[in-house]
Amino acid sequence: MSHRQSPSPVLSSIPAEVRCARDYEVLARRFIAEPAYEYIAGGSGEGITLAANFAASASLTVCPRLLRDVTAGHTRLSLAGRGFSHPILLAPVAFQALVHPGAEVETARAAAATDSCIVSSTLSSCTLEEIARAAGSNKWFQLYFQAQRDVTADLLRRAQVAGYGAIVATLDAPIQVPSLRSQRAGFQMPDHCVAANLSEYAPAEPVRPEPGLSRIFQGLMRSAPTWRDVDWLLAQTSLPVWVKGVLHPQDALDLKARGVAGLIVSNHGGRALDGAPASLHALPQIRAAVGDDLPVLFDSGIRSGTDIFKALALGADAVLIGRLQMYALSVAGALGVAHMIKLLREELEICMALAGCTTLADICQATVLPQNTTIGTSNADRH
Ligand code: FNR
Repeated sequence: MSHRQSPSPVLSSIPAEVRCARDYEVLARRFIAEPAYEYIAGGSGEGITLAANFAASASLTVCPRLLRDVTAGHTRLSLAGRGFSHPILLAPVAFQALVHPGAEVETARAAAATDSCIVSSTLSSCTLEEIARAAGSNKWFQLYFQAQRDVTADLLRRAQVAGYGAIVATLDAPIQVPSLRSQRAGFQMPDHCVAANLSEYAPAEPVRPEPGLSRIFQGLMRSAPTWRDVDWLLAQTSLPVWVKGVLHPQDALDLKARGVAGLIVSNHGGRALDGAPASLHALPQIRAAVGDDLPVLFDSGIRSGTDIFKALALGADAVLIGRLQMYALSVAGALGVAHMIKLLREELEICMALAGCTTLADICQATVLPQNTTIGTSNADRH
């Protein structure tokens, strides 16, 4: 489907052509101007990691199992001491005013309607307070460390006052380079897309390294968080702290030792280090490293309920959805996002039922196999 000259207005009903969650990705091309679509869809650099996420999921199969009684089936889980009716969270996605005037407030309404947890970005177009008022009881705040520590501390304070239940510190993107795709499409952030949470603070002084020093090491990375900042964060807030962007088992172990509430295995949907492994390939080692007693969430590349099933099989407790929420938001606002979550949940339930899984706990590693693997009775024994 090609882009139209001017994007279609947001719909007030679900278009009949959306039959699965992934359809929103295709349909959104009609609702988002091309440069903005390229900005959202693209990965960093050449998009190697972006593609690796899809390839990793496609390289696995789910083995159907026959004749099992799954009529007691459900997708409930408990995460960090809280009950959830399904394992689908909304990932932090910045600047949602790019695709819908109601922006994150619409997404928060959809989260409330579908009993989903919204993770609200530091760089949201609405303030964290506005988003909190529209969201249900499950809402977390995603933190980007700011160059000025007092600003970071104030964001933490505001999140707690607004009723957010956890902090998600994203650590994998201290340098954000727009994808080559979006640069080639001529994307520029429009003036109405501002980081509303930060508008009340004086902007940080731009870092200009001395002549001869690196624009990266002594420039952009000078205010990047380090382990000291993680320790500071854990001491600063009484909210549970999750870390997003974990791909290395040693980082996972070190974070666990410091007392984080949980980890999010993610490569930022292929938008951070291009060349990083597919999140799905990193997941089993991280689960093995931290054991079963630390919650591990997963994102990057999820477009269907079967993708969710595979992530749960490889060790995730639940997953976060990034781009699909922007696509659904662009098509039909809160209704679209709620519909997208409903579709994903149903796709997951279909996959579970046909694989003979009654609960999320039944989705173990033996339920998925690499393509072309012969199924022997030893696999069957395990599941
Ligand atoms: C993101 N992501 C992101 N992550 C984060 O921690 N803070 C943020 O503000 C943003 N902003 C953002 C904007 C856009 C346009 C995209 C596409 C992504 C990353 C996001 O939380 C998540 O990790 C990925 O989007 C997951 O991959 P999928 O589901 O998009 O394939």
